[in-house]
Amino acid sequence: MSKVLIKNNKGGVGKSWLTLQLSSGLAKIGYKVLVVTSDSQNDILGFLGIEAPIKGGLENWVNKGEGDLIRLRDNLFYIPLITNIFSKQFKEKLKDRLNKFSKEYDYILIDAVPVMGIDKEFEEVADKIIIPTFMDNVTCNGVEKMIDNIADINKIKVIVPNRFLGSKDEKIMLEHLKNMLLTSNIFLSNPIKHKAIVTGLNSKYKTIWESKAKGINEIQETIGSVLEVILHE
Ligand SMILES: Nc1ncnc2c1ncn2[C@@H]1O[C@H](COP(=O)(O)OP(=O)(O)OP(=O)(O)O)[C@@H](O)[C@H]1O
Ligand SMILES: [Mg+2]
Repeated sequence: MSKVLIKNNKGGVGKSWLTLQLSSGLAKIGYKVLVVTSDSQNDILGFLGIEAPIKGGLENWVNKGEGDLIRLRDNLFYIPLITNIFSKQFKEKLKDRLNKFSKEYDYILIDAVPVMGIDKEFEEVADKIIIPTFMDNVTCNGVEKMIDNIADINKIKVIVPNRFLGSKDEKIMLEHLKNMLLTSNIFLSNPIKHKAIVTGLNSKYKTIWESKAKGINEIQETIGSVLEVILHE
């Protein structure tokens, strides 16, 4: 149905974490979801405490048509990545492979780190792009540049301020971004605060949908608003 790229060139903004929450949210309401990544750290497995033996990841799928497929939850599957070095052949065949997957899965979510080479392929194959970001000058400038440089700006659907501390400077930046996006079709979600419960969930290997912790509702609502855009845009 849809290929959703979670992207920001800055590290630590919550790309992998958000990919997990969005994909598990879609799986929970019955969609069959596949998560792939351009990050050989495979952090999503770490968030869930899964230590599957990795033999042949996305590389194998692309080059040989088969490989590891790790079940994360009901309806939710993950293909790991082994290396960050990609052959010309891999790059040529990646889009084809992802298009094949989209016949089997309702949603494909891509946890993207800016690695040389396949960033462009992922951007081209995606039909929706979600950008988690810090609200500091440097990261927001990077996001503005990304918006200017993306080939098809209509693919960018949501910007998610994450790990928000609520400082005066962050609030100013949020206002600036709000004004900048007024004339666009990009949805700016409520900021997700930097919260200790997120760290707590990681250590329990749970997603936000599997928690009743105090304060989790606010995060569920904000990520729910992002899911609405993915489902209906
Ligand atoms: N709202 C939040 N509150 C507290 N911690 C958070 C929040 N969002 C993400 N984190 C934590 O911040 C850390 C970095 O997040 P994550 O690994 O998803 O970032 P990333 O953008 O994928 O980084 P990288 O570029 O290194 O892959 C993780 O430990 C994650 O659990
Ligand atoms: Mg990551």
